[in-house]
This record gives sequence, structure tokens and C-alpha cells, in this order.
Amino acid sequence: MADEKEVEESSVQSADPYDLVVEGCRLPVNMSNSDEWPLAEILSRKTTDSGLSIYVHYIDYNKRLDEWVTPERLRLEGLQFPKKDVKTPVKERGLGLGLAVNSCNSSRASSPAPPELVNGNSTATTTSSSGTPLATLPQQMQPSAPVVKQKATVGRKRKLPFSDFEKGEENQDGSSQYSHSENQPRQTGSMVSTDDVLTRIKNIDLIELGKHRIKPWYFSPYPHELTSKQVIYLCEFCLKYSKSFTCLTRHKTKCSLRHPPGNEIYRKNTISFFEIDGRKNKAYSQNLCLLAKLFLDHKTLYYDTDPFLFYVMTEYDSKGFHIVGYFSKEKESSEDYNVACILTLPPYQRKGYGKLLIEFSYVLSQFEGKTGSPEKPLSDLGLLSYRSYWSQTILETILKLPSPSDGERPQITISEICEATSIRKEDVISTLQHLNLINYYKGQYILTLSKETLDTQQKAMLKRTIRIDPKSLHWTPKDWSKRGKW
Ligand code: ACO
Ligand code: ZN
Repeated sequence: MADEKEVEESSVQSADPYDLVVEGCRLPVNMSNSDEWPLAEILSRKTTDSGLSIYVHYIDYNKRLDEWVTPERLRLEGLQFPKKDVKTPVKERGLGLGLAVNSCNSSRASSPAPPELVNGNSTATTTSSSGTPLATLPQQMQPSAPVVKQKATVGRKRKLPFSDFEKGEENQDGSSQYSHSENQPRQTGSMVSTDDVLTRIKNIDLIELGKHRIKPWYFSPYPHELTSKQVIYLCEFCLKYSKSFTCLTRHKTKCSLRHPPGNEIYRKNTISFFEIDGRKNKAYSQNLCLLAKLFLDHKTLYYDTDPFLFYVMTEYDSKGFHIVGYFSKEKESSEDYNVACILTLPPYQRKGYGKLLIEFSYVLSQFEGKTGSPEKPLSDLGLLSYRSYWSQTILETILKLPSPSDGERPQITISEICEATSIRKEDVISTLQHLNLINYYKGQYILTLSKETLDTQQKAMLKRTIRIDPKSLHWTPKDWSKRGKW
């Protein structure tokens, strides 16, 4: 009520009703390419030659849908003012979560607390659609509960590695390397320090990368000078950024790369993986992180790429090895994370490449003789992709079990699933629970595979046309802890 009164009073004083629409207010906004009018928070406003533009964040939606809108897309009748008694600055209000507190998706979309087995060797029996058990897993879990304990969901935020620009590097195109400090991404500390309202607003409109023009999803600390450009141009092989097509063309006459730097450790048909050491190829790693940040919201940039390896997946054609996506991995992870950040570039998304990247990360773990897990929190799309990968891989393992000759049901332990897949135990259990496969039956845990689950699995596996072939991986794991220096 107080707010309504306030609107009335202010309206009397204000000639232009849009003057009331200031940072921190909320109101229904017509979302691009839809008939919906979800509630949105005003993050910024600007007046240009073409008039007023308002930057909005849709409260219940991922930040990648944030956008500049024109006034006619605002429903002024629904205007809500920021709560008066909250004395916090705009950037901390409401859903105005900055990068440090983390984005709207971290709490909602991070992996649900993975259950941990207290009593490790749990077993279960798989059951067919008819209810006949297919596989019995020797089990020692107590009947009272699926003996799990919750793990905290709020993970430490991963910082995307991103170290100082190589100052001694040759200025290849006159635009990619900036000498003036204002034009450089910050060189010390992490993105957390830039956690203000500016980092909540997309700063790059469009990038050109090879044959693709891509709309960024989030803020990335490219030099300020580039943020006023309609398009920024990236060399698709070394990932250097240029402020104009002319600069990129000039760069291309000098850049001889036709693939990412580092070692090509995998090739099968047109798909290759290159391993890049963040210490040896700093410039490339930094440029990759800057590019990745455009699509990764819940990660902050960290200015040191040395502790990371980058696995870049490419697709080959006569022009070269074109980047499709990548994941980074700490050389030494105290928590046995096998992926720090993972990305499929938007033009390649939803085609199975994400799962291919994930599969590759687990094949590396297989070669290391370890289980691994992605670093938390996961993004909304990260969680969907991992859930899908874990489900398909675990079911594939269970369904491949040979039937014992004695007519008994095949048996497998959770630990054996982990060993076969390199998926960490917590992720195996949470996946089985998520799929709702675990049942307690006559004193033991059994896995019941319904016809629906089997059908879904069959269809999903038919879609997985490209798979990682471990025979095409030429790679020996390094024990980084034994090295003096990364
Ligand atoms: N909407 C709904 N489901 C989706 C979507 C989407 N937009 N995108 C992916 N999925 C799901 C699908 O369920 C799909 O499984 P399905 O085949 O069973 O339907 C599954 O994710 C994987 O699909 P892929 O095509 O293999 O994955 P994709 O190439 O699209 O890559 C990725 C997935 C890497 C998460 C991509 O969306 C991305 O790069 N997002 C931006 C960056 C990001 O969020 N990375 C993960 C952060 S977490 C971390 O780094 C550890
Ligand atoms: Zn180049």
C-alpha cells in the first residue's frame, strides 16, 4: 500500500512516468521473442539518440536472458519500488546478486546435495519392467534408510583462471594488446573485486569467431575500449580479440595458427582434443577464459592460469581445427575435481558436444585410475548435462552386465560402477536416486528398471552418435605433485 501511495505522489511530481523507473525497481516486462510479461528488476538505464533504454533482469530466469528494453515493453501499472527500509546499495538489493554472492542460478541450479554413503559398499538389485530383479548388488546398507548424509550445496566459487596479459608479447594486430591500463582487463586480484553493478550488465553485444556471430550471455572483462563496438572480432585459432574487421584481417596475415596451441592428444574422425598448459600458453589460456566468461556466469575470473590445463575440442575441416568447446582442469585438485569449467560454444550447443566433453573428462580420469567430479556449483545447463551424462553412463554400465550362467541376476556394487565409469560415488548414488531406481525389497536395495527407463535409455543412446574412443587418446597422466613447478 505504501508503495502505491508513493507511486501516486511521485506521479504528480513527475512529468515523465518513466522517470520513476529507476535501478532497483521491479515491474512486469515483455520478454524478447515471447508473449510473457515476467517480473523484472531494473539494473540500469541509459538515454541515447534513439531514446531511453532500460536494462532488466527477469527475476525468475537465468541472467543470460537479461536485456536492454525500450519503454513500451514496461508495464508501469505493476511498478514496485525498492523497499525503503533496506539501506543497501542497488547492487545488493533483491535479486541484484553480484558475481561474488553469485548469480541467480547458483543456488537454484547447483547440484542438489549429493548424498554420501556412510556405509560404503552398498549394493542393489536391478529389476526389469515386470518387477523381476535384473541385478543384485551385494548390500550392507541398513534397512532403516538409504544411509546418506547431506553435503553442503554451497560450493566455493571457482575462479576462471585468467592471468596477466603477457606484456612482452608481440602486438600482432595493433588492437589485441592494450598498453593503457584503462583498456586492459584488471591485472591483479579476481573478478570479485569488480563485483559491482557493471559486471551484472552484458558489456559485449556480439562476437565474431570464425564463421559464427555469437551473442554473449554474460559480462566478461574485455578491455573497456571494445565494449562500445557493435561486434568484436576474435581470431578463431589463437582467440585474440580485435576491435574491427580490418584489425582482425591484419592479424590473420600474421597468425599462422590453424589449431589451438599445445598437444593434440586425441583425434577420431574430425574431432580432436588439444591439451594446453596454462603456464606455457598464457596468452591463449587468458583469451580462452575471456571468451568462456561470456557464457559462464557463476564463475569468477582468476588471474593465474598456471595451475590449469585446458582441453580444447575442435572439429576439423580444410580450413583448420575449429574450436567447439573446452574444459579446464586443475593440475592438482585436492578434491579430485576432474573439470573446473566446461563450455560448448553456443552455435554447437544441444548437439551432444557437451556430453562428448564430459565423456572425455571421465576418460582422462580412467587413464589416471581415479574417479572425478565437476567442480561445484554447477550452472543450470551444467547440471542438466551432467545429470544426463551420469544417467546414461550408469545405465549403460548396468545394462552391459553379463547374465551369470546360473540364471541369477547380474550383480554390481556401487564401487564397481564408479570404477567402470570414473564417476564419483556421490554422483552415482545421487543419479540412481534422481532416476528413482533404488527400491528397498526383501531386506536389500534393488534397482528397478522400468520399461520407460529402458526405452528412454535406448533412445538416448541412439542419439549419442559421436562417442569418445579411448583407443584414440594418446596421453600419459602426469603426477603434478612430483614436479617442482607447474
Ligand atoms: N535446455 C534444456 N536442456 C539442455 C539445454 C538447454 N538449453 N542445454 C543442454 N541441455 C541438456 C539436455 O538435457 C542434454 O541432454 P539430452 O541429450 O539428454 O537431452 C544435455 O544437457 C547435454 O546436451 P549436450 O548437447 O551434450 O550439451 P551442450 O553441448 O549443449 O553443452 C553445456 C552443455 C556445456 C553445459 C552448455 O550448455 C554450456 O556451455 N553452457 C554454458 C556454460 C555452462 O553453463 N557450463 C557448465 C558450468 S558448470 C562447470 O563448469 C563445472
Ligand atoms: Zn590468431
